[in-house]
Amino acid sequence: MEEIKICPKCKEKLIKNGKSYSCKNNHTYDISKSGYVNLLLDNQKHSKNPGDDKDMVISRKNFLEKGYYQGISKKVNETIMSLLTKNNINILDIGCGEGYYTERLKKFLSERKIENRIIGIDISKEAILVASKKNKDIEWIVASASNLPLEDESLDFIICMFAKIIPEEKMRCLKKGGYLIIVSTGENHLVEMKEVVYENVKKDFYSPIGDLKIFEYIETKNCKYKTYIKENESIKSLFNMTPYRWRSPKEGIEKLFSLKELEITVDVNIDIFKK
Ligand SMILES: C[S@@+](CC[C@H](N)C(=O)[O-])C[C@H]1O[C@@H](n2cnc3c(N)ncnc32)[C@H](O)[C@@H]1O
Repeated sequence: MEEIKICPKCKEKLIKNGKSYSCKNNHTYDISKSGYVNLLLDNQKHSKNPGDDKDMVISRKNFLEKGYYQGISKKVNETIMSLLTKNNINILDIGCGEGYYTERLKKFLSERKIENRIIGIDISKEAILVASKKNKDIEWIVASASNLPLEDESLDFIICMFAKIIPEEKMRCLKKGGYLIIVSTGENHLVEMKEVVYENVKKDFYSPIGDLKIFEYIETKNCKYKTYIKENESIKSLFNMTPYRWRSPKEGIEKLFSLKELEITVDVNIDIFKK
């Protein structure tokens, strides 16, 4: 497969050379023991360890492994399948976290004999470390969505699930006719959890359509179902993987953490855009 990674410093093509990548200007990046490459430059970091921290990564891993969000993964995979026009595709999962959805997409396509290269990028080194230990057939990179270390027009699909939207870089890296798939939380997502933690629950949601005017908007698919969380540990992990962990009242959190089970509504929107 042709290499599509570029040097984050000078934008020249990166070539794999044993256990590192380097460009023609001799900028060199080592491949870690678990197989990922760190292409995040110091001047792109807004903190020492940007992105999700270890606790959040572990909480997300523990929760997702229980399978409660399998329905989201299935719908995203089927959406990509329905848009395929050829049998050989390059996909980037941007803000991939610890790679739950990335890995399931890889398996889904491979089982259907679709030749695929999948790249997972996240700004969190902790997240990519966990991801890279899980699956060696995906190319894992620590990098920022605002400086994607990938060639212009090199991707057929970009998926961005519950992560920051930075349109220009996605536009640059997508091939003409390529698809951008944004997955974000809907109006009723986790409403039962919010009702336990907060006295007044505001129902709102973000639609990316207004921020992605440089793309052609195709359609929005909704994925909605209810599921029962049966372990106290999973309720805690779910809460700790969301931004609510930073801004919730102590009493509400204690109430939630005392529950042994909780029915939740999963409600996500899958917005499809085209270059
Ligand atoms: C809510 S998590 C979602 C992870 C994964 N997509 C999932 O749904 O399981 C958001 C992820 O975006 C990453 N992130 C935040 N800012 C980023 C940036 N500027 N570039 C790349 N990744 C970023 C975080 O480190 C985190 O892993």
